[in-house]
Amino acid sequence: MLSSAVKFAVSATSRTIRCLHGSAAVCSDKLFVHRDTPENNASLTFEFSAENKKRADLIIGHYPKGHQAAATIPLLDIAQRQSGGWLPISAMNYVADLLKMPRIRIYEVATFYTMFNREPVGKYRVQVCSTTPCVLGGCGCGVIIDALKQKLGINVGETTKDKMFSLGEVECLGACVNAPVVSINDSYYEDLTPKDIDVIIDELKAGKVPKAGPRSGRFTAEPASGLTTLTEPPKPAGFGVRKDL
Ligand code: FES
Repeated sequence: MLSSAVKFAVSATSRTIRCLHGSAAVCSDKLFVHRDTPENNASLTFEFSAENKKRADLIIGHYPKGHQAAATIPLLDIAQRQSGGWLPISAMNYVADLLKMPRIRIYEVATFYTMFNREPVGKYRVQVCSTTPCVLGGCGCGVIIDALKQKLGINVGETTKDKMFSLGEVECLGACVNAPVVSINDSYYEDLTPKDIDVIIDELKAGKVPKAGPRSGRFTAEPASGLTTLTEPPKPAGFGVRKDL
């Protein structure tokens, strides 16, 4: 009698509890505090090369006096490129001093945006989009991540021993129509299959530059089955204007 009452209570409870979260929480693989290491500590010096300093001055000059903070992101980007793809603390301090900003403001920006790397990364930063359209589009990003893990012999968040490749997952890269999408440094590779991953990584290892863009044969983001609009050259100016008006 008691056990059937308990069973009823349990089944009634499970009917009324709704699960709001369907997927496991994924924690960031990054440590967002600074820990001094031999290659990353404030006693190391950093300054822009003459060419980058010219670039930085030009960017700062775009903004009115007193608003140099607006140049934070482009300057951090230049600093990251000059440092080989990551931002040591000395580079962040240099940018803060150049912009006359409190250093903490620069650290806040560098730790917020995932395009800034606070640890050394491989020569090629391979980032797989794992937002919903890329999970569902084409063969799906899960297959692409598995292909990359297998090809590179590393997991997401890791760098190969030869410091050639770092593998990461990112949110939408803004090319959802061409899912699944992977960015490698400044290039996008789209409409990917595991075979494309094989070819792209082999070409990078051989020192070649793989062709960026869609790998399916389409030009950009037009329908995969062919154009449905703009199928002929645009009409000249004035076309369709009534002559009797
Ligand atoms: S969801 Fe992958 S590019 Fe937008």
